[in-house]
Amino acid sequence: MVAPLRVGIAGLGTVGAEVVRLIARQERALAERTGRGVRVVAVTARSRAKNRDIDLSGIRWVDDPVTLAGDPEVDCLVELMGGVGDPALAAIETALKSGKSVVTANKALIAKHGLRLARAAEAHGGALNFEAAVGAAIPVVKTLREGLTGTGIDRVYGILNGTCNYILTRMEQEGLSFAECLKDAQRLGYAEADPSFDVDGHDTAQKLAILASLAFGTEVAENAIYVEGISSIAPEDLRAAAELGYRVKLLGVAMRTAKGIEQRVHPTMVPKSSSIAQVMGVTNAVTIDGEGIPPITLVGPGAGGAATASAVVADIADVARGVRVAPFGRPVETLRATEKAPMERHEGGYYIRLMARDHVGTAAAIATRLAEQKISIESIVQRHPDGGGPASSGEGAPVPVILITYATHEDAVHRALQAVQDDKVISGRPQVIRIEKN
Ligand code: HSE
Repeated sequence: MVAPLRVGIAGLGTVGAEVVRLIARQERALAERTGRGVRVVAVTARSRAKNRDIDLSGIRWVDDPVTLAGDPEVDCLVELMGGVGDPALAAIETALKSGKSVVTANKALIAKHGLRLARAAEAHGGALNFEAAVGAAIPVVKTLREGLTGTGIDRVYGILNGTCNYILTRMEQEGLSFAECLKDAQRLGYAEADPSFDVDGHDTAQKLAILASLAFGTEVAENAIYVEGISSIAPEDLRAAAELGYRVKLLGVAMRTAKGIEQRVHPTMVPKSSSIAQVMGVTNAVTIDGEGIPPITLVGPGAGGAATASAVVADIADVARGVRVAPFGRPVETLRATEKAPMERHEGGYYIRLMARDHVGTAAAIATRLAEQKISIESIVQRHPDGGGPASSGEGAPVPVILITYATHEDAVHRALQAVQDDKVISGRPQVIRIEKN
């Protein structure tokens, strides 16, 4: 039997501790399945004294991550510290440049430095595995990198942030405001104390950048992604969406278009009947549209110690087996520069909610402005402000008007709504949500 793979773990937070436990618990299965076994030989973390409820007997303590990465008795560095710079970056580069393999859950680092690290892995022969960086236990990196090697990808989209999906689910099911649900998410530990990274869409964008590269053979380019968060979504949008047969989800979408690869993160109306619409709470899901095959949807836990450790240990097992795949599915030098498809040319249906002056001619004025931009209306509903019934015919407080358009271009929608605002037939800013068809 070949000697076990010697693993060094940098970072013993929730995930790191769970990886130590999982490797111990699965020791026999890992030996059987990899043909050599996996052994944690050394660890490093910020505090040695902290009680982590894990058995570290027989495991060496190393004082810093870069030393651990260069340790001649470590074959595979597992980076679970997080952060886009050093020491995570230096440790990973040290390990890769010494020909070792690296497993990381660090999406921010892969989104920012993935190409540089992949180059180092390819040059020195080690693996660079990052399944846990996207969707935790959902094996979407492996699906795109290996499972669909023979299939062209047209679109990959998904719910990649559990915090946002939790908030939107509670808003929809209980009619609560964004702020109330966010507070609960923080209380339950789903959202960070500073939740903007999640709710403004940046966490989703980093994950999407990685998926887009794997799907389309382009360079990872977080800055090529259009990003919009969920804080403007109101309970009335979710109510209207439900009545119209939709749900609102924060989606990351990467798709092939005639103008290049469109990459975008924004609240999205999805048909209630779609697989992605069934995904509630903190659960994540990714749908892949492959050429010539029906869509594939993977659903599962996208965060948490056990879910993340599951992906990390699977990546370590691949290293133990000797699997070496180019980190982004093909050699870095063959990845194409990302052509950023401009959002103004985004084509799709739109949900538009306006607060309209309740008097004769308002609906006609709105319809005229849309028609001028060749935007065809699929449905239009004007509501009484209490949401109860049809609007009155007299002049009074503004009333919500909800429109669904057929497919059009984003710049046409902006031009039409600017004209409607200039006409002074509405108050406040229009709410616009893109519709994604399955
Ligand atoms: N903050 C993320 C989420 C989990 O809410 O899904 C880690 O990526």
